[in-house]
Amino acid sequence: MSLIIKVDPVNFKPEDLFPAAEVIRKGGTVAFPTETVYGLGADAFNGNACLKIFEIKKRQPDNPLIVHISSFEQLYAVASEVNNEDKLKKVWPGPLTVVVKKKPGVPKEVTAGLDTVAVRMPAHPVALKLIEISGTPIAAPSANISGKPSPTSGKTVIEELNGFADVIIDAGETFFGVESTIVDITRNPPVLLRPGPFTVEELRSVFTSIKVPPEVSGLYDFEKPLAPGMKYKHYAPEKDLYLLLDNSSLPEIVKKIDKRVAVLVTEENYEKIKNLASKNVTFIILGTESNLYTVAKNLFESLRTIDKLDVEFAIIQSFKEEGIGLAIMNRIRKASGRKFITNYPF
Ligand code: TXA
Ligand code: MG
Repeated sequence: MSLIIKVDPVNFKPEDLFPAAEVIRKGGTVAFPTETVYGLGADAFNGNACLKIFEIKKRQPDNPLIVHISSFEQLYAVASEVNNEDKLKKVWPGPLTVVVKKKPGVPKEVTAGLDTVAVRMPAHPVALKLIEISGTPIAAPSANISGKPSPTSGKTVIEELNGFADVIIDAGETFFGVESTIVDITRNPPVLLRPGPFTVEELRSVFTSIKVPPEVSGLYDFEKPLAPGMKYKHYAPEKDLYLLLDNSSLPEIVKKIDKRVAVLVTEENYEKIKNLASKNVTFIILGTESNLYTVAKNLFESLRTIDKLDVEFAIIQSFKEEGIGLAIMNRIRKASGRKFITNYPF
């Protein structure tokens, strides 16, 4: 069994986290909340400790980890060269990860042998305090078994990792629900590697110019993966998931559905189609069109719900690819293995 520490995300006592910090210092693993998703962390300067993360997650060794820091001193401890430092002071703490040149002391297990390292300062009080009292940066990917959706609640982390991580800190639900935005700032202009809560529009306001490769839509793979993690199957439920390309065909489709199917839609679309749906349809409400951050927050738990329901497969509506919608569509395309439909039956 893992040691489970339950804390309030804001009103906790630093002492509550002492056993977790002790485990980090001794080379163990700790699952902890961030404002995006939960991470599974270890001392970023301890290669053997970081190897345990790969074993627990069954993660491919060529998929590097994100190093989480609580101060700029820790940035300089892992990065040999930092461009745009003034800009990072504006955006951190927050859901933005940057790829920078690494210092030799960062173990190869963390960076998968690359000469760069991904770094972020999370905006979650528990994460920041844990890193601070551990006295070392914490390397952490998302706290899921590889291929599954990232966990966005302590409950899901416990379901997934109890008995595997040494400690699980349960601080309830995370805030954003999708993983951080990743930008490679070793390039000029910086290149977006993964869309996330820190939107392209916000990135442009900070970095002036930013390259957005077509691959961030999730429609194609990077030929030579820019973020090595991009080439792996991601976020997928066990059951088949299909992306509906045109939401205007929802009414026609739900009328015709003749199998047990989960349909994932916003409140607004649910209101339009709930009275038309055949009895075979189970709806999962994702959030509201008027604030797509609600959809991002519920997305991964909704994907996990598909597998818990008595349905054969699932259909999910599409979203406009702007703002947080870009990150939502990237995750949906990967979760669906890029399967899409325009009609039913298909
Ligand atoms: O919000 C998040 O980013 C969460 C929380 C825990 O911080 N972390 C997370 O890590 O989602 P995850 O599982 O996505 O793994 C790290 C990602 C992978 O896609 C990996 O390829 C990329 O970061 N990455 C790490 N180091 C990199 C590097 N040097 N260059 C390019 N991509 C890198
Ligand atoms: Mg992950």
